[in-house]
Amino acid sequence: MTTRNTRGRQFFANPGPTNIPDSVLKAVQQASVEYNDSAFLEIYDQGFAGLKRVLGTRHNLFMYNASGHGAWEAALQNLLSLGDTVLVVESGVFSDSWAEMAGKLGYKVETVKGDWRRGIQIADLAEHLRADKAHAIRAVCVVHNETSTGVTLPLPHIRAAIDAAGHPALLMADTISSLGCMEFNMDGWGIDVTVGGSQKGLMLPTGMSFTGVSDKAVEAHKRATAPRGYFDWTQMMARRHKSFIGTVPIAMFYGLKESIRLLEDEGLPNVVARHHRLAEAVRRAVQVWSGNGSGPEIFCTDAQRRSDSVTTILMPEGHNAESVRSVAIERYNTMTGGGLARLAGKVFRIGHMGDLNEPMILGSLASVEMSLAVAGVPHQKGGVQAAMEFLKG
Ligand SMILES: Cc1ncc(COP(=O)(O)O)c(C=O)c1O
Repeated sequence: MTTRNTRGRQFFANPGPTNIPDSVLKAVQQASVEYNDSAFLEIYDQGFAGLKRVLGTRHNLFMYNASGHGAWEAALQNLLSLGDTVLVVESGVFSDSWAEMAGKLGYKVETVKGDWRRGIQIADLAEHLRADKAHAIRAVCVVHNETSTGVTLPLPHIRAAIDAAGHPALLMADTISSLGCMEFNMDGWGIDVTVGGSQKGLMLPTGMSFTGVSDKAVEAHKRATAPRGYFDWTQMMARRHKSFIGTVPIAMFYGLKESIRLLEDEGLPNVVARHHRLAEAVRRAVQVWSGNGSGPEIFCTDAQRRSDSVTTILMPEGHNAESVRSVAIERYNTMTGGGLARLAGKVFRIGHMGDLNEPMILGSLASVEMSLAVAGVPHQKGGVQAAMEFLKG
């Protein structure tokens, strides 16, 4: 017999995968069809075109049966030749992992060091690029929204710094936890490769990832010689689906068509505004819990860079975040995100991305506030009240 409270709906304040709307769940349940059949191709083309609108690109899109890691690998392998140099902008666990992957695949990795609590100084990136007089750096890899730390980096400023340095490197942006949550405009912002995944802002099951690719990047791909198999864009370009070497994930496309409908019915600017509003409610709650500085606090120290899709919360000294998380799930059926890698135990994360409304976020905040009390973590009461005051508008 379990003592875990499993009644009612689980409040899923997870920073990905996220809540899947009921209509998307219904859509993915349909029977399989042949993926070359005209009836399915119509749905496929709608999903493909819709995703390009969400990305804000008129250029190329390549999709994979893989989680986000697959799209990371696709971006590197299609644009580079073995021994090439990439410059990774340090932001946290996910920038580290992308850098590690690039190293394992045989590329030289340089890093613009950044404080995990606020991200890099843009001037450091500009200086690094200006020092690369021979233009050895082929690509700059940036995680738009660092899901481990809750820090969002200003991609337009990063683009401007690359341009100001007169450097030809391609700009690759990981939007896995920002797409469908925050403003993003691939073509307008001059992004060469956008890495995205199905399981966060797009409100779909995990398992499909993709890369939006500029025409400039496709030209670079034609010159690049790294070995590639499943992720080969050249092979994809020759296919009817322009993506997916092998079987196309039919159910995912039934879901994608519905999730694009939901996003566009709400209107992308409204989706962005909703995320900002719910994120702000979370921040107001945490700021109250912080009290005079002895309680948990928002990990990101730069107010301009606080993420609208996930808030990472730093525990006070001597308190383990896992004790709060386990009370929240065991007693109140509320799932939060844990601290990753070197942040394990030190932080927990409240995800506020995807299919979410006011009472859902208030429910999660109430569970967390009760869990802080049960776990004996010092905090000032009234965080949920502050969130309600803000949300009632
Ligand atoms: C910003 C970011 N990049 C990359 C990844 C890795 O994606 P996946 O777990 O889908 O392979 C994640 C996963 O959470 C992420 O948040």
